[in-house]
Amino acid sequence: MSESIIEAQDLVKIYRKTKVPAIDGLTLDIKRRGIFTLLGRNGAGKTTFLRIATTQLVPTSGTMRVFGIDVMEDPKSIRRRIAITPQEARPLFTLNPRDHIALSLMMRGASRAEANAKIDPVLRTLDLADVGKVHSEELSGGLRQRILIAMTIVCDVELMFLDEPTIGLDPLGRRKVWQELIRLKNKEGRTIVLTTHYMDEAEALSDDLAIIDRGHVLAKGNPREVKQRNIGPKTRVDVAEGFTFEELSSYGTTIRAGNLLRVFTTDEVAQEISREALRRKVPISISPVTLDDVFVQLAGGEIEEEERKVENQEEEPQRGVLTK
Ligand SMILES: Nc1ncnc2c1ncn2[C@@H]1O[C@H](COP(=O)(O)OP(=O)(O)O)[C@@H](O)[C@H]1O
Ligand SMILES: [Mg+2]
Repeated sequence: MSESIIEAQDLVKIYRKTKVPAIDGLTLDIKRRGIFTLLGRNGAGKTTFLRIATTQLVPTSGTMRVFGIDVMEDPKSIRRRIAITPQEARPLFTLNPRDHIALSLMMRGASRAEANAKIDPVLRTLDLADVGKVHSEELSGGLRQRILIAMTIVCDVELMFLDEPTIGLDPLGRRKVWQELIRLKNKEGRTIVLTTHYMDEAEALSDDLAIIDRGHVLAKGNPREVKQRNIGPKTRVDVAEGFTFEELSSYGTTIRAGNLLRVFTTDEVAQEISREALRRKVPISISPVTLDDVFVQLAGGEIEEEERKVENQEEEPQRGVLTK
């Protein structure tokens, strides 16, 4: 069995009525086991990639293989072995969390009794036990989102896809989901493909990641490699006052970050700047380089921009719902 679980080769997707490709010649390998993150701002092509991999959307050209199977040749075999939390899905209003989880399992052929046995553990895992029998229309957005995640992680599949799973969750809910994803990969050896535009999430969870923008891969590898390859030095220094741009540039690559000047440099030079700042009596802050720095460097802009709704979402023919 190959080490890759997903292989995309020269993948292109141009939606009808649009000229700009949503996926633009993308080649990517996703390894078996562990958490892989597609990181990019809104409109980067993350959902499009996931919908092609999960056999819901036909690519314009190029190939996509999942488990070594071409998504166009045998989608049914792929569907049996994956589970998905789509972006912006909604639970069914009159069903409660228990119903949703049972439904998810029974759609895959579990009996009522088999399904029942799995409900309580997953409800506990995602802190949904108290609201197990409450109609989902009465639940907050964050709890509804957790129902959708529960429906996916309860499935006994080797590959799961979660499209922006933590949008709308409060910080505690996010941590719960993170913990569970880490447990699924470590204890159960699953492969999890995740999309997010949260840098900290990608940093905390990913074994490997790809930063994508406008349908292209800008960088890929594990978070440490990606930072090392694209920024070099491990440390950044933020200065609000007391230094000019030119002065700081002599210490290392310097950029403007809002009201701050930011220098990328080595630990030793950071200490030197620190001593000079002390002498000038101005505060500075020293911290490790982040994936956000990589993104700014490669794409020229912050990643966590304002939410933007994707238009014309309904016009593309679908490849059918995801059942056995
Ligand atoms: N059904 C659709 N019809 C036309 N254009 C679409 C459709 N879905 C997405 N797009 C466009 O494709 C690009 C990529 O979108 P998407 O894959 O949803 O990005 P992301 O998930 O990274 O936010 C965007 O420019 C978006 O407007
Ligand atoms: Mg999306």
